[in-house]
Order: sequence, then structure tokens, then C-alpha cells
Amino acid sequence: MATQNTITLFLFFSSIISYSFTVVTSTQTCPNAACRRGDPIIRFPFRLENLQTKSCGYPGFTLSCDKEKQTVINLPGSGSFTLQGIDYGTQEIWINDPNACLPARLLSLNLTGSLFTGVYYQDFTFFNCSSDYTKYQLNPIACLSGSSNTVFATSASPVINFLSSRCTSIAKIAVPMELPFFEQVLSSDLSSDLRLTWAVPGCGRCESRGGRCGFKNNSSLEIVCTNAPRHGLPRSARYAITIGAGVPTLLFAVGLLCFICGRVKAFGGRRDPLSELSSTVAPQPTLIAGLDRPTIESYPKVVLGESRRLPKPDYNTCPICLSEYRPKETLRSIPECQHCFHADCIDEWLRRNATCPVCRNSPNGTPPAQSP
Ligand SMILES: *[C@@H]1O[C@H](CO)[C@@H](O)[C@H](O)[C@H]1NC(C)=O
Ligand SMILES: *[C@@H]1O[C@H](CO)[C@@H](O)[C@H](O)[C@H]1NC(C)=O
Ligand SMILES: *[C@@H]1O[C@H](CO)[C@@H](O)[C@H](O)[C@H]1NC(C)=O
Ligand SMILES: *[C@@H]1O[C@H](CO)[C@@H](O)[C@H](O)[C@H]1NC(C)=O
Repeated sequence: MATQNTITLFLFFSSIISYSFTVVTSTQTCPNAACRRGDPIIRFPFRLENLQTKSCGYPGFTLSCDKEKQTVINLPGSGSFTLQGIDYGTQEIWINDPNACLPARLLSLNLTGSLFTGVYYQDFTFFNCSSDYTKYQLNPIACLSGSSNTVFATSASPVINFLSSRCTSIAKIAVPMELPFFEQVLSSDLSSDLRLTWAVPGCGRCESRGGRCGFKNNSSLEIVCTNAPRHGLPRSARYAITIGAGVPTLLFAVGLLCFICGRVKAFGGRRDPLSELSSTVAPQPTLIAGLDRPTIESYPKVVLGESRRLPKPDYNTCPICLSEYRPKETLRSIPECQHCFHADCIDEWLRRNATCPVCRNSPNGTPPAQSP
């Protein structure tokens, strides 16, 4: 049994390592780029002017770096915005105003001529009121307000009715929100990033499968997906590929190995601790000893802001996939011990194991379900 496990483990790691090398060699013609460390990683369909050649990006997806080394996107008809984040899999971007007054930009936003549209829209009515309206406990837009006027944006009809008779209505704008709203917003300073999406080129499926998208040849706009693993690797393995080079991959492998050793000890051979892992390599009866979806979904989730404020500031790396947390990523914490992980990583984990991978505490105080 032990020999079999060792072989399975070896095959598992060598598949990860060979994948990472394939990706590295094929991206040499258009290497990833970024304006500075921590900024969004730029690759097809985007390209950074001056750093990546024209054939590395799709027309209309050209970005630049400004003097502060921020990534800048120019939306035709609306002007330049800082690009805060890109999700290549869902084909979404997050943008904000370089001059920190997004509401002013919203007043002149017109995405008609651009390749991007909002993901979630919510109508906001802007009002220009005299300064004494500060007493209404509404959240003003500071950058549009002055000593003699206060500007509010609201999506709630009672507030619209109230302000209509007392203030000047400036505009009604469909704002591309960062998150969906299920209720009316009494007032907002509308400073969080705008979330936009693009339809063409459709690289999302390729990216979600771990592949890389690019032009088929340089005489047409047809795209191809390269390096997509033929059979799905687990998400954690894809993370290892994303971070690319062999060293992080090895670290990941070593970490996993230590972890497995820990588990072998912890379970004292009562059951086969590797059967969960090897089921990701070859189809085998899966051992279900994890939590159900509603339980997992009930654990607190947080989307990281630009400053990557973490619930626990000392931990900036996900202990499961060993990649650093990046702005816009969704984290989930386990309420009992407050340990944090990428939501994708911990969800996958908790579906298989009912314990925190860091401290082994069982969420909800329930012992891990016994396998049949
Ligand atoms: C938005 O821009 C398009 C052209 O790109 C123009 O036809 C349209 O009138 C503009 N809409 C507004 C509200 O300005
Ligand atoms: C609001 O009104 C004041 C004058 O009452 C004006 O100076 C200011 O430009 C207006 N602000 C906006 C955003 O329209
Ligand atoms: C480029 O790709 C297009 C579409 O597949 C094809 O029609 C064209 O012949 C190709 N051109 C070259 C030079 O290979
Ligand atoms: C197409 O790409 C090749 C190299 O990959 C280059 O030599 C050639 O000049 C390119 N053709 C055009 C029309 O850009």
C-alpha cells in the first residue's frame, strides 16, 4: 500500500512540474508584464505599451504605465482610468479614477464607444444641495462638495423624493457597481472601483482551464488557446502553474508533502489518508469526509480591496496554494479559528476535509464525518 501511495504521489508532482515548464517555454514570445510589483499582471488580450509588442495584445486592450507606475486604461469617450485588477477567467476589470474622484468621472462616463460594459448596474440620482444638508445624515460626495454646496448620490426613492424638492438634481446615472445590490442605497460616495466586463475576445474559458490565449497568426484576429491541460487539474495545482517558475512549485510540493506526513501521523493509519489526494490523479471512489455546501457558504467571505486589508494583517499568503493574496481576490475565513484562505482553495478543501488545514480545528466543533 505504501509503495503504491508513493508512486501516485510521484506521478502527481511530476505532472504539476511538467505542466509548469510547458507554460513557461510557450510564453516567452509575449512575457507577462506589470507596471510595478503588486500591480495587475498584464498578458493577452491586454498589453502594456512599450513593454509588450503590438502582437501581444488585442486591438483596444492597450494599457500604459503613468508617472506613479499605476496601470492606466484609456476608455474611448470616457478618458483614462487606473486599472485596479483584471480577472482573465471571468473577463472582468476593476477601474478607478487616478485623481480620486470617481463620482466626477461617472458624470461623464459613456461606455458606448468602448469595448467594456458594466457587470452590475444600479441607477443613482445625483443632487447638488446647499451646505446645510449635511445635517440629514446622508453620506456626501466630498470631492464634489464645497464650502457652499454638498453633493449626494442616492438610489432610494424616499431620498430622491425628499431631495428633489430641496436640491438641484444634477443627473441620473447607471453606475457599473463592484458588487450587486439587493436593496436601495440611501446615499453613497461612489468611491469603490467600477467593475466592467468585455465580450470579445472570449478568452475566459481558456483562462479558467489554465490555458493561455493568443493570436492564431499575425494576419487575423482569430484566437487560440494553448497549454490548457487536457484533463482538469485541481485548482491548487493550477495556482502552482500560474505562479510559474519551478521554485514556487517545489515549495508547494514540499509543503504538501509535509502536510501529508502530518496527516499520516494524525490518523495513525486508521484510514488511508492519501485516497483523497490520489482521487485527483486517477478516477477512484472518492472519500467524502468534508462539509456540505451550505455550511461552507455560511463562513464569512471578504473581497480584498486595493490596499489588501486583511482580517489578520500578518498573513499575506494563502496557506493552501502558497500564492500571495492579490487585490480583488475573495477570501474566506473559518469562524472558529479565524484562519484565512482563498475562497476557492478553502472551499475545495472543506468539501473534502472538515478541519482547518492550519490548526486542525473542526469548524462548528463537529468531529470530521467518518467515511463509510
Ligand atoms: C455616448 O457616445 C456615443 C458615441 O460613442 C454617442 O453616440 C452617444 O450620444 C453618447 N451618449 C451620451 C449620453 O452622451
Ligand atoms: C453645485 O452648485 C454650486 C452652486 O450652487 C456650483 O458652484 C457647483 O458647481 C455645483 N456642483 C455640481 C457638481 O454641479
Ligand atoms: C491566419 O489565420 C487565418 C484564420 O485561420 C487564415 O485564414 C490565414 O490563412 C492565416 N494566415 C497565415 C499567413 O497563416
Ligand atoms: C508575423 O510574425 C513574424 C514572426 O512571428 C514576423 O517575422 C512577421 O514580420 C510578422 N508579419 C507581420 C505582417 O507582422
